[in-house]
Amino acid sequence: MKEQLEKIKLEAIAAMDAADSPAALDELRVRYLGKKGELTAVLKMMGKLSAEERPVMGQLANAVRAQLEEKLDARKQVIDAAVLEQKLASEAIDVTIPGKSVVMGHEHPMNQVLQEIKDIFVGLGYQIVDGPEIELADYNFTRLNIEEGHPSRDRSDTFYFTDDDSVLLRTQTSPMQIRVMENAEPPICILAPGRVYRKDEADATHSPMFHQIEGLVVDENITMGDLKGALVTVMRKIYGEDAQMRFRPHHFPFTEPSCEMDMQCHKCHGTGEIDGNVCSTCHGEGWIELLGAGMVHPDVLRNCGIDPEKYSGFAFGMGLERMAMGRLRITDLRLIFDNDVRFLNQF
Ligand code: PHE
Repeated sequence: MKEQLEKIKLEAIAAMDAADSPAALDELRVRYLGKKGELTAVLKMMGKLSAEERPVMGQLANAVRAQLEEKLDARKQVIDAAVLEQKLASEAIDVTIPGKSVVMGHEHPMNQVLQEIKDIFVGLGYQIVDGPEIELADYNFTRLNIEEGHPSRDRSDTFYFTDDDSVLLRTQTSPMQIRVMENAEPPICILAPGRVYRKDEADATHSPMFHQIEGLVVDENITMGDLKGALVTVMRKIYGEDAQMRFRPHHFPFTEPSCEMDMQCHKCHGTGEIDGNVCSTCHGEGWIELLGAGMVHPDVLRNCGIDPEKYSGFAFGMGLERMAMGRLRITDLRLIFDNDVRFLNQF
């Protein structure tokens, strides 16, 4: 019996040393130490031993059991550590591998140009103001001297919300002149960029929604010279010191006198043709219209409680898309709104 115990012990220890997984180890525990295990089977035969032999064998059997349990625990620790090691290795993250860079978008080219224009005007002392796109006809037309029946009030041109044509999507940023003047005392020096809406079919130069930038300066002794000076200064900053501008007389109901300002075509340099063909950018004109402007009409000042005997002012409204097209040499307005990233990525 003693040899038997010795044999079981050696066998079990060798098997445990060879086991390489928690499951294999568990199997060995059952096989040697379990209720139906080999050691238990030997102990069951103790009854057949003599009274002297029994305690000696009992002691030996318990010692073997203790040794095997100890061995199992030790081996279990080694195996668990190895399993953990393997798991950590397989799940390891190499933090030194360069990451995948996130593709960042950038500001839309039209907003880049708007930002540039705003920066220049702010540098000249203008304050940027914002106003509603849903506007009262009173501000958009009436108080700007645009009387009932004027063609620009026509339902075929303007998006109205109400049957009485009193609420609309603003067709220009000029109502901001009224909103600012009725709430502020001169000196006034503001820039109001924003969206405007007209019932136009989209083509290379038209869109039912586009952007204008309204400017308004009201103070004592403001003249047409101030208007020209401000606009020429800004245009030279945007288009370069050699940019050529011209002012043409025009009519707006809310300015008197009124004018429009054109910039010499950047494509044909004012000749209207390229290699004997009509220039497609300015349609042979040699000039591109950028804005309407003029001296604020005395009636408009009066409508806002400003004394035209004491104060005068100038106002202008420029088309942002036109400015951006000239600045970035874009030839079709629709490209600005399509938002094709292949196009946008160029800027
Ligand atoms: N609001 C005018 C337009 O949309 C432009 C303008 C603004 C003209 C300010 C004079 C003064 O055409």
